[in-house]
Amino acid sequence: MTTRRSIGVGLISVGWMGRLHSRAYSNLRFAYPEAEFAPHLVIAADAVQANVDYAVDVLGYQRGTLDYHDVLNDPDVDVVSICAPNFLHREFALAAAAAGKPFWIEKPTGRNSHETAEIVAAAKDAGVATAVGFNYRHAPAVQHARTLIAAGELGEITNVKVSLLADYSADPLGAFTWRYQRDRAGSGVLGDLLSHGIDLATHLVAPITAVTALTQTVITERPVPQGPTVGHATASSDDPKASVENEDYAAMLVRFGAGSRAVGFLEASRVAVGPRADYSIEIFGTAGSLRWSFARMNELEVCIGTGGDLHGYTTVLAKPGDGEFSRFQPGPGQPTGFDELKVVEAWQFLTSVISGEQIAPSVEDALAAALVVEAAEASAADGQWHTVANA
Ligand SMILES: NC(=O)c1ccc[n+]([C@@H]2O[C@H](COP(=O)([O-])OP(=O)(O)OC[C@H]3O[C@@H](n4cnc5c(N)ncnc54)[C@H](O)[C@@H]3O)[C@@H](O)[C@H]2O)c1
Repeated sequence: MTTRRSIGVGLISVGWMGRLHSRAYSNLRFAYPEAEFAPHLVIAADAVQANVDYAVDVLGYQRGTLDYHDVLNDPDVDVVSICAPNFLHREFALAAAAAGKPFWIEKPTGRNSHETAEIVAAAKDAGVATAVGFNYRHAPAVQHARTLIAAGELGEITNVKVSLLADYSADPLGAFTWRYQRDRAGSGVLGDLLSHGIDLATHLVAPITAVTALTQTVITERPVPQGPTVGHATASSDDPKASVENEDYAAMLVRFGAGSRAVGFLEASRVAVGPRADYSIEIFGTAGSLRWSFARMNELEVCIGTGGDLHGYTTVLAKPGDGEFSRFQPGPGQPTGFDELKVVEAWQFLTSVISGEQIAPSVEDALAAALVVEAAEASAADGQWHTVANA
């Protein structure tokens, strides 16, 4: 029998992502049976008692608390997941770093690039490993795309189209939660969805160096919920209304750097009617093209070369050899899902902690995305091109 080093997990915030992180830790041993470590769920904190109870009763934490300090002060906690709303990222991450606890934090990792930079500095000063929730990178088909691009199969990359269209805010009765408040979320769909697209484009092509952008708020007021919410909740038309303070839609034209001549178009909407969680990236090169969508996350559409009667895109199903696919399914074409992406993230996080070698994406990648978002916000305000600041 393998003896595994026990890693005590503390969770701060038991909302949608907190539950997903917890399931990822619990399922890690099935995907990575050779792991020399075994996470166990020690203590979870949430501001809402019902969520604390859920953590203990359903997720399997040994204990729960209403005070996140109890998580960081617990001697049995070795690592922490921070799944709080954006306005609490900085406080919780800095406290975790001060307590010497490595942390896996959700994107966008603060309300703005200044907070993200503070989080990066705190982790660096404390010498703790981090992970950030840029989960779409881990899709096996995305990893296949990366391999094809790195091998030069598409030739020189000329242009990129990233589109993240969701309907989670399309209902005007969608509750006025922290997501719509500038002092709690920071930007709207730019930080929430487009940060994922920026990270994907950066991961697959090159860093974005210059941006011109526009933003729009479509639903300008929403009902304020009269009780606690999880994820994207709705409220009643009888509830009092509050004004939405950040953007529902954003679009930007970009230039890539690091020697790439590629240009790109990225857009995101949280109020699209039709697309549900339609997150896609299309990459065009001089010798071929490919496209991937989260809605069909196990498929990669690829076209290599020109000419011939059958010229066009071929749909290639994810298979063993593509990223971490074989951890979950033995044969080509068997679907993996969102939970599996988080298992890979948990594995990379804990491997970084144990090995001392930081695996990307870390909070540094969150900062790279936040700086692009910041340049986009500046451009949306003055209509000019903006250079992305260096991380
Ligand atoms: N990686 C992804 O694909 C992805 C998807 C969704 C959300 N997110 C990110 O995850 C984070 C959380 O989003 P969510 O959808 O899980 O939100 P959520 O609203 O479902 O959960 C937030 C939780 O934080 C709790 N909370 C509030 N104040 C707290 C406090 N002081 N102490 C402890 N807990 C507190 C709330 O009670 C709630 O349970 C956000 O930063 C969001 O951008 C990432």
